[in-house]
Amino acid sequence: MKLRELYTILKDVLKEASESPGSEALSVLTKVTSQTRERLLMNFEEEVPEEVCQLAISLAKKRAGGYPLQYITERCYFYGLELHVREGVFVPRIETEMLVELALKLIEEKGFKMVADVGTGTGCIAIAIALESECEVLATDISERALEVARCNVERYRARVRLLKGAYLSPLLPVLNDVQLIVSNPPYVPTSAELPFDVLKEPYEALFAGEDGLDFYRNFFSDPSLLARKTIIMEMSPEQEEPLRTLLKDLGTITFFKDQFNRTRFFRLDVA
Ligand SMILES: C[S@@+](CC[C@H](N)C(=O)[O-])C[C@H]1O[C@@H](n2cnc3c(N)ncnc32)[C@H](O)[C@@H]1O
Repeated sequence: MKLRELYTILKDVLKEASESPGSEALSVLTKVTSQTRERLLMNFEEEVPEEVCQLAISLAKKRAGGYPLQYITERCYFYGLELHVREGVFVPRIETEMLVELALKLIEEKGFKMVADVGTGTGCIAIAIALESECEVLATDISERALEVARCNVERYRARVRLLKGAYLSPLLPVLNDVQLIVSNPPYVPTSAELPFDVLKEPYEALFAGEDGLDFYRNFFSDPSLLARKTIIMEMSPEQEEPLRTLLKDLGTITFFKDQFNRTRFFRLDVA
């Protein structure tokens, strides 16, 4: 079968499930042929081996059944970076790019030298900060799979990021005195929330944080003495503004920020 015919079949398989079946069909083709989109488009009349056609069609069917495209292509994009991702690791979201912007602005204003990213996933936030600043960046996660993927991305970009395994502040304790800024996009979805099928393919521990979605924050801030005089920037859900204001009111000064969709999405806490 010619590449052009295969492309049409894939587009057809994807059209019910995707808003951009043509683009997703090309993404599947880049994965199975290891060619760039540009090369594929130039070689549309080439014959494709039967086993490659079968693989492409089965991946398109998987995608049409609600499997995230990023897990099929094993690629995602964040802050201008192309990153490796795979099943079992959270796919970075565009909203989170603003967390990087907030952090970089503060790093410049305050001259911070050491930053920690808690719950790094693919390493997206940590790598973006390391590449755009002079800071030394520490990145932690509880998930070994996430750390493997983050390691691959850190090496690809030769970013100054040190990866550490563990929950909350525990892996940072030996160096916590020197950390001036902590950033995090933690799990913050209430367990009762109904999420789209493709989002539910992402790891449970990356998404959910107890009945009200605040468990991560509660545990992270449970010993405020560890965080004295540090600045923390975290992502949150827009409905969590009031509960977070209440939870953190005795710890320091809290400021909320909106994302590019005009929803309250981040807070900055300057711990007293
Ligand atoms: C929403 S994902 C964010 C990943 C990445 N920072 C991003 O923005 O794409 C949350 C990450 O936190 C990690 N995580 C969950 N609970 C944690 C904990 N108690 N301590 C450290 N990391 C945790 C998960 O494994 C997951 O990688």
